[in-house]
Amino acid sequence: MIFKRFQEDIDSFLARDPAARSRLEVALCYPGYHALMFYRLSHPLWKHNWRLLSRWISQLGKFLTGIEIHPGAGIGRRFVIDHGNSVVIGETSLIGDDVTMYQGVTLGGIAPSVDSKSQINRKRHPTVLDGAIIGSGAQVLGPITVGKGARVGANAVVTKDVPPGVTAVGIPARVIMPKNKQQAKNFVAYGTPAGDCPDPVVQTITNLRGQVEALMDKVDALERRLEESFSPEDEISDRKSATNDAKKPVAISGGCS
Ligand SMILES: CC(C)(COP(=O)(O)OP(=O)(O)OC[C@H]1O[C@@H](n2cnc3c(N)ncnc32)[C@H](O)[C@@H]1OP(=O)(O)O)[C@@H](O)C(=O)NCCC(=O)NCCS
Repeated sequence: MIFKRFQEDIDSFLARDPAARSRLEVALCYPGYHALMFYRLSHPLWKHNWRLLSRWISQLGKFLTGIEIHPGAGIGRRFVIDHGNSVVIGETSLIGDDVTMYQGVTLGGIAPSVDSKSQINRKRHPTVLDGAIIGSGAQVLGPITVGKGARVGANAVVTKDVPPGVTAVGIPARVIMPKNKQQAKNFVAYGTPAGDCPDPVVQTITNLRGQVEALMDKVDALERRLEESFSPEDEISDRKSATNDAKKPVAISGGCS
C-alpha cells in the first residue's frame, strides 16, 4: 500500500514535469518528492501524538530539501512540488488531490506573530482544493480556499478565496480575463462560472459603457424629436416673444420707503 503510494507520487512528477525522464530520476533528483516522503512519514506520527519526533523528522526533511511541510498539514494524493526550494506549508493547511506547487510558495497565516496564543489550534492556513496549481513565489495567506482546478500566478499574494477553475494573479491577487474576451460577456447563471471567470472590474466597466451608450442613444432620439416638433417659424416667433418679454419693465414690489 505505502509502496504503491510512493510509486503514484513518482508518477505524478513524471506526468507534470516535462523535464522528468524516469522514475529513478524522480526518486533521486527531486527534492519535492523527497520532502513528500518525509511528510508521509511524519504525518502519521503527528496524528498519533508523537509530536516532537514528527516535527524532528519534518525539520530533517526541511534541512535536506529546503521545503518545510508541517506534519500537521493535510495533503491528498499525487501532490507535486516542482523545484521546491523555500516552499512553506503551514500546520493547518489542507491540500486536495493532484495539486501542483512551485518553488517559493507559502501557505501561511495572515499574522502568526500577533496574539499567537489565541491562534493555537485554529484553522489559520489555506485550503487548496483538487487540481489547483500554485505558481512560484505565490503567497497564499489565511484560512481561505483556492478552488478546484484554480491557478494562482507566479508571485501572486492571495488573501481571499479563489473560485474554482479561474486564474488569479497579482498583488493582491485578482481573477484575470480569459484570453477569449467574448467569454467574459456570456451570461453566467447563478454566478457559477462555466469556464474561466471574467474579471469583475472589466465586467463592471463594460456594463457601465453599455449603459452610457444606451443613454446617449436616448438623448439623441429626444433631441431629434424636439427638433422635429418645432418648425422654423415657431422657433422665430418663440425667440421674438422671448426678446419682448425681456424688454418689458419689471415691477419691483416692496423696497425702501
Ligand atoms: C497565471 C498563469 C497560470 C496564467 O497563464 P495563462 O492562463 O496562460 O495566462 P496568459 O498568459 O494568457 O495571461 C493572461 C494575462 O495575465 C498576465 N499574467 C500572467 N501571469 C501573470 C502573473 N504571474 N502575474 C501577473 N500577471 C500575469 C499576462 O501578462 C496576461 O495579461 P494581458 O491579458 O494584459 O496580456 C501563468 O502565467 C503563471 O504565472 N504560471 C505559474 C507557473 C510557474 O510558477 N512556473 C514556474 C516554473 S519553474
